[in-house]
Amino acid sequence: MPLSRGSCLINYDLCSSRFLWYCQHSVGGWKIQRKVHRSTSTCKMSTEKNYFGSSPEYILKHRTQYPSSRTIVVSGATAGIGLAIANHLLSSSDQHLLILAGRKVDVLNDFQSTNPDRVITRAGDMADLGFVQSMLRGVQCDGRLDALALNHGTLGKCLRIGQMEGDEWDRTFRINVTSCVVLIKETLPLLRSAKGRIIFTSSGAATNAYPSWGVYGATKAAINHLAMTLKNEEPDVTTVSIRPGVVDTAMQMDIREKFLHNMDEKDQQKFLSAKSDGKLLPPEKPGNVIAELAVKAKKELSGLFLSWDDPQLAEYQVE
Ligand SMILES: NC(=O)c1ccc[n+]([C@@H]2O[C@H](COP(=O)([O-])OP(=O)(O)OC[C@H]3O[C@@H](n4cnc5c(N)ncnc54)[C@H](OP(=O)(O)O)[C@@H]3O)[C@@H](O)[C@H]2O)c1
Repeated sequence: MPLSRGSCLINYDLCSSRFLWYCQHSVGGWKIQRKVHRSTSTCKMSTEKNYFGSSPEYILKHRTQYPSSRTIVVSGATAGIGLAIANHLLSSSDQHLLILAGRKVDVLNDFQSTNPDRVITRAGDMADLGFVQSMLRGVQCDGRLDALALNHGTLGKCLRIGQMEGDEWDRTFRINVTSCVVLIKETLPLLRSAKGRIIFTSSGAATNAYPSWGVYGATKAAINHLAMTLKNEEPDVTTVSIRPGVVDTAMQMDIREKFLHNMDEKDQQKFLSAKSDGKLLPPEKPGNVIAELAVKAKKELSGLFLSWDDPQLAEYQVE
């Protein structure tokens, strides 16, 4: 929580877990913010904006005006399901505050310019664990983070086990699993105190072994296990793993256009006909459910792996 002291404001630096002191000075008619680290933090100044609104104090006004507003990180927010999650959260009258991550800087910039008060962006590769660890460093969230929607993911190169080098296995695991573990570790203190939520975008591939999807399926099975472990280790945090179905995104296009040749004939037909028969889900269907879960998933869902349209999730299945 920020504490006001005269013309100064103490705020909480999300990932360095340190308090920062902001002072206002009137100089030549201009008001400037001076950021003073109260400790020996090694935080680097980012060129990306670190606070919501026009100044670090904005969040205080926002929280008072919108008490139901939640602060939520969405990864893989630049396309497909993640884009739908972010758009759903931004359209809520609760005026949620979002930290959006991905590599597509143009999409992140669009989010930022369309929602300057409610969006902070973080551009980087989840394969780079140094980036992931420092991703939220410096973000001014008023000591409060309510949820992570960990949605980013890659199929990798879709090679069969007999074709795959260890490095490729390792890279896919780093992106899909280890980056999540690193980000969770960094944010757990805040998630615990907010009694917050972690929502994973998993996959049916976690329990279904498609030839050439071995590493992808294994990463999604690991995500589901991570959700079960977090349920037992972190009673104050609700963690749910969601199977989004077969969704009309760039990932499905990649399956049809780049990866079919390594798959079995019957699986090729399944993914080709899902598109040609109009059976792919729009990203908003699972995306809206994941967004609603990030806002208010109930404790009893913790540790579960559920399909987006599971009857247990009826109250989260909104248009
Ligand atoms: N589509 C389906 O049928 C389906 C089915 C089951 C599960 N899923 C899961 O749903 C999630 C979203 O996928 P999608 O279908 O929406 O695919 P998508 O349109 O390709 O989106 C993938 C998202 O993940 C981000 N991402 C991928 N690799 C990244 C990296 N190395 N570093 C940072 N961000 C990265 C992408 O952002 P940048 O490109 O900007 O980095 C993008 O925002 C994934 O976890 C996927 O496994 C999808």
